[in-house]
Amino acid sequence: MCGIVGYIGHREAYSIILKGLRRLEYRGYDSAGVALYDGNDIKLSKTKGKVDDLASKVSQEITTEGSLGIGHTRWATHGEPNNVNSHPHYSNSGDLVIIHNGIIENYETIKQELKNRGYSFHSDTDTEVLINLIEDVKKNENVKLGKAVQIALNQVVGAYAIAVFDKNKANEIVVAKLGSPLAIGIGKEEFFIASDASPFLEYTKNAIYLEDEEMAVIRLHKGISVRKIKDDSLVDPYIQELQLNLEQIEKGGYEHFMLKEIYEQPSAIRDTYRGRLSIEQAIIKMSGVEDNMKRFLNADRIIIVACGTSWHAGLVAEYMFEDLARIPVEVEYASEFRYRNPVISENDIVIAISQSGETADTLAAIKLAKERGAFVFGVCNVVGSSIARESNAGAYTHAGPEIGVASTKAFTTQITVLMLIALRLARAKGTISSSEFRMHMLELDLIPEKVENALKSDAHIQLIADKFKDAKNCLYLGRGYNFPVALEGALKLKEISYIHAEGYPAAEMKHGPIALIDENMPIFVIATKKGHYEKIVSNIQEIKSRKGKIIAVVTQGDEVVKELADHVIEVPETIEPLTPLLTTIPLQLLSYHMAVLLGKNVDQPRNLAKSVTVE
Ligand code: G6P
Repeated sequence: MCGIVGYIGHREAYSIILKGLRRLEYRGYDSAGVALYDGNDIKLSKTKGKVDDLASKVSQEITTEGSLGIGHTRWATHGEPNNVNSHPHYSNSGDLVIIHNGIIENYETIKQELKNRGYSFHSDTDTEVLINLIEDVKKNENVKLGKAVQIALNQVVGAYAIAVFDKNKANEIVVAKLGSPLAIGIGKEEFFIASDASPFLEYTKNAIYLEDEEMAVIRLHKGISVRKIKDDSLVDPYIQELQLNLEQIEKGGYEHFMLKEIYEQPSAIRDTYRGRLSIEQAIIKMSGVEDNMKRFLNADRIIIVACGTSWHAGLVAEYMFEDLARIPVEVEYASEFRYRNPVISENDIVIAISQSGETADTLAAIKLAKERGAFVFGVCNVVGSSIARESNAGAYTHAGPEIGVASTKAFTTQITVLMLIALRLARAKGTISSSEFRMHMLELDLIPEKVENALKSDAHIQLIADKFKDAKNCLYLGRGYNFPVALEGALKLKEISYIHAEGYPAAEMKHGPIALIDENMPIFVIATKKGHYEKIVSNIQEIKSRKGKIIAVVTQGDEVVKELADHVIEVPETIEPLTPLLTTIPLQLLSYHMAVLLGKNVDQPRNLAKSVTVE
């Protein structure tokens, strides 16, 4: 994980790096640091804590002149988050300095060898080992920095996006990538380096995304040369024109990114099906599916791999694919799938769902699936991300950048894409009639408006949040399509308010969680009219007779549950497969308000990161 930024050009590097680090804080925020070259020497400052803590330390510690520099915001893997383990790291001579996102797995062995050769280490990090390995190679082989980086990287096992410079040759930065993302922004006589394009969007729209096992030497007046790390062959890099704009990555008047992103869902969902769903022509068109229709139609089963919220979207998709297209589905945690020697055949389709497209376990899972002959279809939000590139085909969600660590619009847009695929396959297989197909399309087209409507309960939800914010434990219950929504509701609460919460299929409550229920236990029940309504009403009765506090998400106009529950939150009516797109909204808002009322850092909850690029 971690975010890296670098600059070489004619502007003051520090302000660009600091702003860039703030934009990349979603990738990790337990410590931060910068190293600047001021024309004579390296000025380095780093600290435990957030980028704001770094800014105040820098103002007391170093001068900020110089138009070359690198910066880092960390999510600790090796070594606890403290000042010493923060990046950047010097080599022993103090000439070289590095920032690193990733893990060097064989660092212990290399460290021991370097120690035997007289190197000393100040931190517990794998990164300090790597910079000293580079220094060692540079000295012993008498090669330039770029070559030394290349030779050193051929000796390491692991994942990395790194940026290194040498104070004796401070007109170049060397970068390399394997497994962690690295973008290079190309301006006029200036270059930017970052984990994603957000730090340099206001300066340039031209970017190169390095591929795995590629490195680049970026020289101020001579430009960039990209090579393969393994065989040194030159690469002609593809320069992309970025479609992102600055407003998309700023808060736009909202107090938090999470709230902004919750409110963006109507447009994000619409953007996701726009151009793919045509009601007039009665078609759903997605090139990734069309081009591979034969494979989809012949598939023995679909295996969905994902992590976190994306895994919950996968569970919703399981109901959709089985219910509508009658294709057997298994939904797997990517981390379990990749390590349990799964049975995969050539007739399996593996769908990988990932907002970031960078989650290490999901990436590894699809590599394994490909090796075993399966066809891999990626559902990602970040265009050009590793999972998107590694997949055989795919469909993007068009949620726009999601910055808040707790995923919201990514979830609902993933469900939207998966619904489009399920419907397209159902039609192709003839498992739904043309009139059912049309009805589903019409309903999907109404969802953005209905989400707008569901968002209108915000003030009411805030009052409910205030009543339950001091709860120590919460239970979330749902059935059928809304069972995964219960899991997602509980995850949202845990992530940002640190209240213990569990999601359960409502009927399973009797097999354990019911023992937890007393008058202090808030229980959030999804009880929409569509889908096992009577059964869930019985479950509510069971809770009520044990004095649990019931907060029910119901269909507008419901009178039955209103009588039983302590509080109800209404959402518009829709067809059952689409209910998750509506029932999720109040649960997102509930967690948001509870966390805000508790004074928690909503956008950057403790210990979490947006993009988990370590296994
Ligand atoms: C992290 C994030 C979650 C996300 C999960 C999977 O845990 O905090 O919000 O759901 O990773 O990420 P992905 O990018 O693969 O969807």
